[in-house]
Amino acid sequence: MRNFEFQNPTKLIFGKDTTASLAKEIDNDANVLMLYGGGSIKKNGVYEQVKEALAGHKVVEFGGIEANPEYATLMKALKVIKEEKIDFLLAVGGGSVIDGTKFLSSAALYEGDEPWDILTKHIRTFEGMPFGTVLTLPATGSEMNSGAVITRAETQEKLPMGGPGLFPKFSVLDPQVVRSIPSRQIQNGLADAFTHVLEQYLTYHVGAFLQDRFAEGILQTLIEVAPRIMKDTEDYEAASNFMWCCTMALNGLIQKGVPSDWGVHMIGHEFTAMFGIDHARTLAITLPSYYEYKFEAKKEKLAQYAERVWGVTEGDTEAKAKAGIKKTKDFFHDLGIETKLSNYTSDYEGTAETIAKRFAERGWLGLGERQDVKPDDVEKIVKMAY
Ligand code: NZQ
Ligand code: ZN
Repeated sequence: MRNFEFQNPTKLIFGKDTTASLAKEIDNDANVLMLYGGGSIKKNGVYEQVKEALAGHKVVEFGGIEANPEYATLMKALKVIKEEKIDFLLAVGGGSVIDGTKFLSSAALYEGDEPWDILTKHIRTFEGMPFGTVLTLPATGSEMNSGAVITRAETQEKLPMGGPGLFPKFSVLDPQVVRSIPSRQIQNGLADAFTHVLEQYLTYHVGAFLQDRFAEGILQTLIEVAPRIMKDTEDYEAASNFMWCCTMALNGLIQKGVPSDWGVHMIGHEFTAMFGIDHARTLAITLPSYYEYKFEAKKEKLAQYAERVWGVTEGDTEAKAKAGIKKTKDFFHDLGIETKLSNYTSDYEGTAETIAKRFAERGWLGLGERQDVKPDDVEKIVKMAY
């Protein structure tokens, strides 16, 4: 196992009817900006719950943060933060609203002229404006990590940012929010969390037994609850396990002491930037080709995954590893998620070259756990995913 440091300062408040307790987490004299998305919280009762909880606080609202939070929209929110002398941000939504809020937390204290530089110049945030979250969609883990991904339509870019100053102060996780989530987003949440675990687990052996078991436990739990939650979003037992898996998949714990990959995410983000494909679906498109291409480097871990997570007992290491990729593809299909780029757009010719060129221009010359996935490899992987 590799050396590591682990600190996650986010306080989680998890369970039924927990939204009311958020008031005590925010100073009484704070100037709060409540941020939300396109309006789902106004239909499912979450808006009222939050407003009621914050009845004693001064609250300004900013709605309309879109899925794949858009820089131009966030710049409007930044103006409100300055004008209204906001000093606490509250994200009420899924990964997009939370990520947008993280960008604002950073941008609010940023001293440069152009906040987009935070993303293009990889400026890490060591101190941001404090913020909390009320999670309405289990998927990204953003509620308990310090990363965010921001989109800029103008330049067709989608870039990551982060830093130790961007952990939420607290996150309220009431699994009852799952009741109103449309099936497309449930499928996305399951696929995204599943891939988060694989990006941190499917690399190579470093003798980190417990991290492997944590990862396998999350994967097995997601596989177990997936059919239940897809059938019935009112199933609280399934919803609560689904939500906890998504948080645990990307709160830093399973990543400690082990190599991680993230190549699937980096390529996937480009499909969202270029075609607007849902984040989770971009991962399902990329992952099978990526693992087939990196088969030699990943086969030991793929075989362990096939054996322990999917119960594959037949064959040698190679056969098991291949079965592991197939099982993953089948899992995406069972969720109702297609795994080829051509399932989402007919305009895919040239995509591989464009992405490879972008990576080269950005200096992303070596993705993956061994930093050996070069732009040329990315081009081949994307072509395999057509
Ligand atoms: O905007 P509203 O009206 O709220 O509707 C949203 C949105 O249309 C809806 N929704 C959310 N909660 C709901 C609900 N509808 C009904 N009932 C509820 N309870 O769902 C739609 C999608 O929401 P979004 O926040 O975009 O989804 P998700 O949580 O999957 O977030 C995706 C974003 O997170 C980024 C992705 O790249 C993408 O931009 N990621 C962030 C990560 C992180 N910070 O750690 C890691 C991930 O890998 C990912 O990259
Ligand atoms: Zn993801």
